[in-house]
Amino acid sequence: MADKIIVAFDLYGTLLSTESIAKQLEKHVGPKAEAVSALWRRYQLEYTWRLNSMERYEDFSIVTKNALVHALAEHGEQLSDSNIAALMEAYDHLSTFPDVNPALIRLSADARIQPVVFSNGSKTMVSNSVLRSKDLSTHASVFQDLITVDDIQRYKPSPASYHHLARKMSKQESQMDQMWLISGNPFDIVGARSVGMQAIWVDRANRGWQDAVAPGLRPSAIVHSLEQIVQEIQGRR
Ligand code: LAC
Repeated sequence: MADKIIVAFDLYGTLLSTESIAKQLEKHVGPKAEAVSALWRRYQLEYTWRLNSMERYEDFSIVTKNALVHALAEHGEQLSDSNIAALMEAYDHLSTFPDVNPALIRLSADARIQPVVFSNGSKTMVSNSVLRSKDLSTHASVFQDLITVDDIQRYKPSPASYHHLARKMSKQESQMDQMWLISGNPFDIVGARSVGMQAIWVDRANRGWQDAVAPGLRPSAIVHSLEQIVQEIQGRR
């Protein structure tokens, strides 16, 4: 039998939308919620890249919490520990983007595809997010594994993180192009392309590709809805 096609889904910002957290933030910081939430996400990612550069590691839930405190402080806000804990708890109950569930149903119909989640989140955080999200938990069985970077303590887009995925999927480094990354995060797409993976960028906002960190590295394909990925993957086999 031919090898299965590994399709690795990024989690936050690809399957799960962090927008619902902005609504919760609104209760505490009013109209600043959207700006705080955007800055929170930015620092969350920036911290992972800085930790990679310093060759240090903190669990993604700690990174996320520290990034929230930083984003709040920059907007002149401070929350109690219990309010911070409640916002962190919200990560366990995020909603999916509307195209996710139909895409997962379509994906589960193709037995040649092996879908997994591949995230910066720690194992506990990712399994809580997948299994407790009202929307995603119903389709959680589609994913044959939840691969997280805490085993190797290097965040995406380090080559080590994608090679860790390969090892988990029993692929050699010479077989990176047999794996597909699906992500809404351009930094993740470029990281995967940099080590030879295939990568589909989910451009839900229809902005077009703008990332120029390494101009030669572009997505293998761009879709506007996750529902288009099965067709893209089947078309390129
Ligand atoms: C993840 C981050 C990138 O889920 O959102 O890995």
